[in-house]
Amino acid sequence: MEKTLVIIKPGSLQRGLVGEVLHRFEQKGLQLCGIKMMQLTDEILNEHYAHLAEKSFFKRIKDSMMVTPVIVCCLKGIDAVKIVHELAGKTNGREASVGTIRGDFSMSVQENIIHTSDTVENAKTELARFFIDSEIFDYKLSILSFLYANDEI
Ligand code: PPS
Repeated sequence: MEKTLVIIKPGSLQRGLVGEVLHRFEQKGLQLCGIKMMQLTDEILNEHYAHLAEKSFFKRIKDSMMVTPVIVCCLKGIDAVKIVHELAGKTNGREASVGTIRGDFSMSVQENIIHTSDTVENAKTELARFFIDSEIFDYKLSILSFLYANDEI
C-alpha cells in the first residue's frame, strides 16, 4: 500500500478545521499512520518548496507556512497518493470542485487548507523530510476486510 504526506496549513488551525480535514480522510478509509504538530522553518521550507524558488510568491508562501505550527500526517491506503491529492482538490480553492476539501473550505491559491504530495516519488521524499522512521506506525487495521475485497489487498 502507498503512504502519502498531508500538511494541514496554519490557516486551517486558525479556522478550527483540523478535525474536519482529518475526518474527510478517515471517512474515505485512509489509515492514519503518523501525525504530529511541528513548527516549520525557513530551512525545511526552502527544501519543500524548492521547485517554487523562482516564483514571486516564494517568500510569501514560506512565511504563511510559519505563522503557526502545522499538523503533518502520514496516510496509508491503496493508491493513497492519488486519492488524497484528489480529495484535496485543485490548488486554487476558488477553482476546486465542491465536495473536495479546498472546494468546500478555501477561497485562495495560497491559503488552500492543506498540502498533499502529488506523486508516489514525491510522497516518499516528503515523508522522509517531515517524519523519522519511528514516527510512522504500520499497525494492523482490523477493519481492512470491510474497506477492501480480498483480491485488492
Ligand atoms: S506546482 O508547480 O505544480 O507545484 O504548483 P502548484 O501545485 O499549483 O502550487 C504549489 C504550491 O504553491 C502555492 N502557490 C501559490 N502561493 C501563493 N501565491 C500564488 N500565486 C501561488 N500559486 C501556487 C500553492 O498553494 C501550492 O502550495 P501547496 O503547499 O503545495 O498546496
